[in-house]
Amino acid sequence: MSIHIEAKVGDIADKILLPGDPLRAKFIAENFLEDAVCFNNVRGMLGYTGTYKGERVSVMGTGMGMPSISIYATELITSYGVKKLIRVGTAGSLNKDVHVRDLVLAQAAATTSSMIKNEWPLYDFPQIADFDLLDKAYHIAKDLGMTVHTGSVLSVDAFYSDFADTNIKLGEMGVKAVEMEAAALYYLAAKHKVQALGIMTISDSLVNPDEDTTAQERQTTFTDMMKVGLETLISD
Ligand code: HPA
Repeated sequence: MSIHIEAKVGDIADKILLPGDPLRAKFIAENFLEDAVCFNNVRGMLGYTGTYKGERVSVMGTGMGMPSISIYATELITSYGVKKLIRVGTAGSLNKDVHVRDLVLAQAAATTSSMIKNEWPLYDFPQIADFDLLDKAYHIAKDLGMTVHTGSVLSVDAFYSDFADTNIKLGEMGVKAVEMEAAALYYLAAKHKVQALGIMTISDSLVNPDEDTTAQERQTTFTDMMKVGLETLISD
């Protein structure tokens, strides 16, 4: 086992879906996977391995924010040999054309975090998605009839901050949405030579504040996002 995951080597598939909320990991395991077995409950960060359309796939919560996802992604990659990591989460729209319930595929992630700068103080490391996963997810989402945007996102450390107006200016320059994990996940994937992608459902909008969703609508969109993530993971 690693420090934060109690699984044995071999218990975790080499492809994993990563929601922030561990109860969403449980939901995915119960509703999408067959023969799912729980491999982690350390800190309640539930993880499961099962099969999806006959292929071995895992799903695990990561918690919120870059420090938390970095712990789990690093251990999944370096201790358990995970090679494909797809985050499925929510994001706030920064762009008038990106609406609540739309899907955003994070082609690149800018960040205000110092996590990457700590390792590369003189460089702006380009945090980008794996193109193969991005390309597959885009076509799968389109084929499912979803409204999907591809472009950059902003990964921040603070959900509550005084920088909303500045973040919206980035939106005016084409950044689609703000979230809290993609940049660190992409950086770690590059560092450890594995593939990563962030798929986000827009849960709220900083520029269209009147947009709202019912709980049922949110559930349906999240379910679509999980389908896109799982289909992308098993697609050759
Ligand atoms: N900010 C940061 N992260 C988020 C948001 C937001 O508005 N919505 C969903 N995740």
